[in-house]
Amino acid sequence: KPDQQAPDARSATGGPSDDRAQQGAYVTTAQGVRVSSTDHSLRAGARGPTLLQDHHLREKVMHFDHERIPERVVHARGAAAHGTFVANGAASSVTSAGFLAEGVETPVFVRFSTVLGSRGSADTVRDTRGFATKFYTADGTFDLVGNNIPVFFIQDGIKFPDVIHAGKPHPDREIPQAQSAHDTFWDFVSLHTEATHHTIWNMSDRGIPRSYRMMEGFGVHTFRLVAADGTTTLVKFHWKPRLGVHSLTWEEAQMAAGVDPDFHRRDLADAIESGAHPQWDLGIQTFPDTPEQTFEGIDLLDPTKIVPEELAPVQPIGTLTLTHNPTNYFAETEQVAFHTGHLVPGIDITDDPLLAARNFSYLDTQLTRLGGPNFAQIPINRPHAPVNDMQRDGFHQHAVHEGVAPYRPNTLDGGCPFIAGEDVSRYVEAPVTVPEAAKVRADPTSPTAAISFDDHYTQPRQFYLSMTPVERTHIAQAYTFELGKCYEQAIKERALRTLANIDTDLCLTVANGLGLEPPTTGALEQPEPSPALSQVGGAWPVDG
Ligand code: HEM
Repeated sequence: KPDQQAPDARSATGGPSDDRAQQGAYVTTAQGVRVSSTDHSLRAGARGPTLLQDHHLREKVMHFDHERIPERVVHARGAAAHGTFVANGAASSVTSAGFLAEGVETPVFVRFSTVLGSRGSADTVRDTRGFATKFYTADGTFDLVGNNIPVFFIQDGIKFPDVIHAGKPHPDREIPQAQSAHDTFWDFVSLHTEATHHTIWNMSDRGIPRSYRMMEGFGVHTFRLVAADGTTTLVKFHWKPRLGVHSLTWEEAQMAAGVDPDFHRRDLADAIESGAHPQWDLGIQTFPDTPEQTFEGIDLLDPTKIVPEELAPVQPIGTLTLTHNPTNYFAETEQVAFHTGHLVPGIDITDDPLLAARNFSYLDTQLTRLGGPNFAQIPINRPHAPVNDMQRDGFHQHAVHEGVAPYRPNTLDGGCPFIAGEDVSRYVEAPVTVPEAAKVRADPTSPTAAISFDDHYTQPRQFYLSMTPVERTHIAQAYTFELGKCYEQAIKERALRTLANIDTDLCLTVANGLGLEPPTTGALEQPEPSPALSQVGGAWPVDG
């Protein structure tokens, strides 16, 4: 449809050379040779055998045979849209990032997703949602690869394969296909109790959003912003939907999954096509960049903890508007490659051990998923900034590089741009001091929040207690339903012990629903709650 031809989409999906396959009025082979018929293979007589010499048949079927690429190992099911981000300038005091300066408009591509289901799974399952944004800034591409839940299941990325193995369908029966209602999931989260916080968000109404347009988004990790004068500030990123946060009831989610498994992607595409362009404000919580990297006793390197908004208000720094649907799902939504390591000057990472693993994982997986090292050249992944790198050759190389000296400095290809003068827009890592310490495989600890990493229950408890009665009922029903799908009694009992450490009533209600005796002891091997975390109280910043 003409109104779906986004100007951004056109530039993101490239110029005339990318339209090569659809030029001219006639059907041709991939070599541009006009064919006499694309409906009939070449045969020896109308009823005779099909001939191997039919190069058009062979080329057509060969290409079809290879149309599929591997789906993402997680977040396989998604829907995306183009839009614009306009900064209000409020972040300029803490970051030199050019696209966050007042009034700067940046084209973006946003992909929403579920985490566990396969590409063909239903939209309205109980799950975390991905909220990944690619900012095509003038200084290169910045990706904010977030979720709709502000915390994560694990504190160290080395456990990511494990938590995903536990959440994906059972290897024997390949069920359930997209939900957390099974033994391996509950086995994992009751043994790795750091997952308790993320799990209770999943069991709350946040796990079944009404619409992608009505979800918050979170960068989850603490990032480090760098100002023009080199000062650094720790931040957490938040997306706040202008439509507010809304959820489905469990019954609505079940019905939608049956009647319209494409409920969320249809909702997003229809809204954008009809001109109801969804909007989010991007905000930051800021924290002083102290050596401890803690704030009010909360360890900022721990992705299983939030910082309550009453302690650190979210300051709006710009607004995102989604304006155009993709014109081709495969070219854009499927081939887009987000990466937490796609950073621009003024934005840096912290030593959150979950983030460290992500910074390895995204490029690594895309190498396989997108067939080699040149996926940055795929139109949707092309930066909107000049690219002048030293990468050469490789599978699916589209660039025809000029010159003979792909190294710097050189004296053959016209100078040494990287050593000729200061370039103010270059990326410089914040010169953070790395502690002198012995190598160790252990939870990160800091002097002021030594047991914050080990406190797995204070924040889940505060989350639960901040809920309204009807929201608490939904949470208890969700635990009861999902745990009710487990076959192993021992896993249900261990999960109940975890619940006992969150709230006695919640535990009793779920035990009752499952027809089990409530546990007489709390969860296994839990230390006392961290005093620092316990001081944090009051209303939770959830408005859904
Ligand atoms: C994909 C978010 C943790 C590995 C994604 C996507 C999102 C996301 C939104 C989908 C991107 C898209 O739409 O294409 C997060 C968040 C995390 C987290 C918020 C924790 C705070 C991790 C960790 C790892 C990881 C710890 C690995 C150690 C992956 C992989 C993909 C993925 C392999 C598929 C990427 C692709 O095929 O292009 N993640 N993730 N994630 N994530 Fe994460």
